[in-house]
This record gives sequence, C-alpha cells and structure tokens, in this order.
Amino acid sequence: MTKLRVHGFSISIDGYGAGTSQDLEHPLGRNGPELFAWFMPTNTWQQMRGSTGESGVDDETAARGFANIGAWILGRNMFGPIRGPWPDDTWKGWWGDEPPYHVPVFVLTHHPRAPLEMKGGTVFHFVTDGIESALQQARNAAGGRDVRLGGGVATIRQYLRARLIDELHITISPVLLGAGEHLLHGIDTRALGYECAQHTPGKRAIAHVVLRKEA
Ligand SMILES: NC(=O)c1ccc[n+]([C@@H]2O[C@H](COP(=O)([O-])OP(=O)(O)OC[C@H]3O[C@@H](n4cnc5c(N)ncnc54)[C@H](OP(=O)(O)O)[C@@H]3O)[C@@H](O)[C@H]2O)c1
Repeated sequence: MTKLRVHGFSISIDGYGAGTSQDLEHPLGRNGPELFAWFMPTNTWQQMRGSTGESGVDDETAARGFANIGAWILGRNMFGPIRGPWPDDTWKGWWGDEPPYHVPVFVLTHHPRAPLEMKGGTVFHFVTDGIESALQQARNAAGGRDVRLGGGVATIRQYLRARLIDELHITISPVLLGAGEHLLHGIDTRALGYECAQHTPGKRAIAHVVLRKEA
C-alpha cells in the first residue's frame, strides 16, 4: 500500500506553517519565508535551481522528501494566490514552466478546471470532490510509489484529522511568526494515534521531527 507522506513541513517555534496576508508578492504570507531558511541552502533545493548547496542533516532530510514519490497532493492556496472561480487558465502555479514535481499533482479546490500539463512531467489535476478522492486518484497515479502531501496548512489539517497521513515530517525553524496559520492547534494528534517516531537536531533548523501513525 502506498503511504501518504508529509516532508519538511516547516513551522515556527510558535507553531505556524504560514504567515498572514498571503498574496502574489508574499506566497508564504508575512514573514513566512523565514520558515524556509533551513531548506533554501540545501543541496537538494539548490540542485533544482542548477546550483550546488550544503550537505548535512538538513539536506539529507530535504532529499528524503523526494525519494520514492509518485504523485503529490496540494491545497489550492499552495498552488497560487487566486481565490474563487478561476478567471481564466493563465495561472500555472508559482514554479514556472517546469515545476519541481515531475509527477502528477492533485490540487484540491472547489472550482473545476481542466488538467494542466507542464514541462518535465508535472501534470496538475484539479480535484473538486474532496480529500479522499484526491488521495485515491494520487495513489492510482503513483504507480506503486508513495504520495507526498505538500500542504498548505488547511490541507494537512484535514488529512491529519481523517487519520490519512502515514508519516508527518515537521521541521521546526528558529523563528517566531506570532500570527498566521497554525498547524496543530485544536488537533489531538495523540488521540488520533500519532506518536513521535524520530527527532533529529538540524543545522539551520531547530529539529526535524517525524510523527507516525500507530499501526
Ligand atoms: N510551512 C510549509 O512547509 C508550507 C508548505 C506548503 C505550503 N505552505 C504555505 O501554506 C499556505 C497555504 O496554506 P492554506 O492553509 O492557506 O491553504 P491550502 O491548504 O494550500 O489550500 C486551501 C484551499 O484549498 C481548497 N481545498 C482544501 N481542501 C479542500 C477540499 N476538501 N475540497 C475542495 N477544496 C479544498 C480550498 O480552496 P477553494 O475553495 O478556493 O477552491 C481551500 O481554501 C501558503 O502560504 C503556502 O505557501 C507552507
């Protein structure tokens, strides 16, 4: 059975996974980019940009998030800043002509849209019939590999509440956001059967934590 995995989901010390006021200029919201100060210098990310970056524990953690992944699921806000019905087909994601996915990506939305084929193997499919349907479609498309749940916060919270996430890797960054979208507030992860399976100090991150669902 393919797993549903979250990787490198970055939160502040006070638990926020995105800042307030997301828009075209601020995809991660106010102060949100500070959450990724551990990820940007990694070799994994820099290689995707045609450069070389740092090796070490943060890079190893980042690299694990791309291993054996056959499909992704994203929330519509992670895909872009447009809200409400799609005005046209102009918006194609934050990532340019060749997004870093290279596999099918299922975008949860209430607003239907035709699939979007990008360079390098990424095809965005827009799913309007809920998280279980998106997961089923992603599993079917993943060809026996795992499915990565990219985010954002609202999407991860839904899958977590439904106990559908098998492995949730959170990276705690050394910043305070003070406000924004809180990842775990009001979710009783313990009652849902999650436990801390692993925790490793990072180099630029405070820690990498893996929560796993009990069998
Ligand atoms: N910290 C990190 O590591 C990390 C990782 C990824 C993203 N992010 C950030 O997180 C933020 C986005 O998160 P978010 O919580 O605002 O939103 P999100 O989870 O990306 O998307 C939420 C939107 O997706 C659609 N959606 C979600 N569930 C649905 C369902 N069951 N059925 C139909 N549509 C559904 C709805 O859009 P419509 O109703 O408009 O269609 C909903 O408003 C961004 O700032 C992003 O950069 C952070």
